[in-house]
Amino acid sequence: MEKLLKILFLDDTPSDVDLMKNELKKVNLNYISKWVETKEDFFTEIKEFVPDIILCDYSLPSFTGMEAFRSFKEQKLQIPFILVTGNLSEQLALDCLNEGVDDFILKSSFRRVPKAIERAIEKKNVEKEKERISTELLNSQSQLRALLKKIQIVREEERAHIAREIHDELGQQLAALKMDIDWIMYKQNNPEEAVVSKLNEMLKFSDEMINTIRRISTDLRPAIIDNLGLIATLEWKCNEFEEKMRIPCQFTSTVKERKFEDHLGMNIYRILQETLTNISKHAQAKSVTVSVSENETELIMEITDDGKGVTIGRIHNGKTLGIVGMKERAGLMGGELIIAGEKNKGTQIKLKLPFKNEYTNS
Ligand SMILES: Nc1ncnc2c1ncn2[C@@H]1O[C@H](COP(=O)(O)OP(=O)(O)OP(=O)(O)O)[C@@H](O)[C@H]1O
Ligand SMILES: [Mg+2]
Repeated sequence: MEKLLKILFLDDTPSDVDLMKNELKKVNLNYISKWVETKEDFFTEIKEFVPDIILCDYSLPSFTGMEAFRSFKEQKLQIPFILVTGNLSEQLALDCLNEGVDDFILKSSFRRVPKAIERAIEKKNVEKEKERISTELLNSQSQLRALLKKIQIVREEERAHIAREIHDELGQQLAALKMDIDWIMYKQNNPEEAVVSKLNEMLKFSDEMINTIRRISTDLRPAIIDNLGLIATLEWKCNEFEEKMRIPCQFTSTVKERKFEDHLGMNIYRILQETLTNISKHAQAKSVTVSVSENETELIMEITDDGKGVTIGRIHNGKTLGIVGMKERAGLMGGELIIAGEKNKGTQIKLKLPFKNEYTNS
C-alpha cells in the first residue's frame, strides 16, 4: 500500500490551503495534513506531527516564509520545503533556490502542487541517499585506515619477533656448531689433509651463514633502531646503501636524536628503505642525498637522486606497491609524501609529518 503522506501547511489564508487540498484530491493523493499559522505552532508540529513535506506561504503576517525556512534549516531536518507565493520575481526565485528551498509554487498555478510535492520528495530522497552513501563511504574509509594501521603495527611486531628468533636462536646454534668444528680440528692427531680442508670449508660456510642471519634479521628489523635511535639508523642505512650499491649517498640531519614513538620511527625507516631500493632498481643515479630536518610543526625527510627521473605515469601505474605503500604509511602518520621527477634530472621524495611532542618520549 502506498505510504500515507504527511503534509504541514504554514499559511494564514485558509482559502489557499483549501485550494491546494483540492488539487491533491484531484490526483487522489493518500495524505493527512496539519495547518498552522504561527512560527511557534510550526516548530511544535515539526516535532510532533513529523511531516514528510512542508508547504509554506511566503508572506505571513508576523514573519516571512524565508525567515521560517532559515530557522527550519538550522535544525538540519531533511524535510522538503516548498514556498507558496502570490508573486515571484526572478531574483526572489534565485534567492530561494540558493538558500536551499526545494521548490516554489505561484498561487496562480496551484495545479502544480501535486507534481511539485512529488518532485520535492524525490529530490530529498536522492539527497538523503547521497548523504547516506557518502557517510558510509567515509566510515568505511576510516575503518580501512584503522585496519591498515593495525596491520602495519602487527607486521612490524611480527618482523621484530622473527628477527629476534632468527638472530638469537639460529645465530647461537650456529655459533655453537662453529665451536664444535673448531673442537674437532683441535682434537685430531695426524689429521688427513682432505678432512682439514673439509673442516675449514665448514668453518667458512658457518661464518657465511652467521652473516646471512645477521643480514636477514637486520632487514626484518634493524636492532640499531632500538639501540642507537632513528637518526643513527637512517644514517646507517645510507652508509649501507653506499657500500652495497657503490653510489655516494650523503646523509645530513638537523634533527636531534631522541626516542621516537616506535611505529613512527619504523615507518620513516621503511620509507627510506623503499626509496633507496627504488633508486637502486630504477634510477641509474650517480649520487643520492638524504636530509632530515624539523621545524615547529613538521618533521621532513627529503631524498634526492640524480638519475633518470620518475614520471607521473610510473607513479600512478596501478600495478606496483612500493610507492602506494609509502604514501599509505605517510597518511597513517597524518603526513604526506610528495614525489617529483624530471626526465634525466632525477627524483625527489619529500616526506612531511606533523611533528608533535606526543610522538617523542623525551
Ligand atoms: N628513484 C626513481 N627513479 C626513477 N624511477 C623510479 C624511481 N622510483 C620509482 N620509480 C618508478 O616508479 C615505479 C613505481 O615504483 P614502486 O616502488 O611503486 O614500484 P616497483 O619498485 O617497480 O615495485 P615494488 O612494488 O616492488 O616496489 C617504478 O616501477 C619505477 O618505474
Ligand atoms: Mg619499489
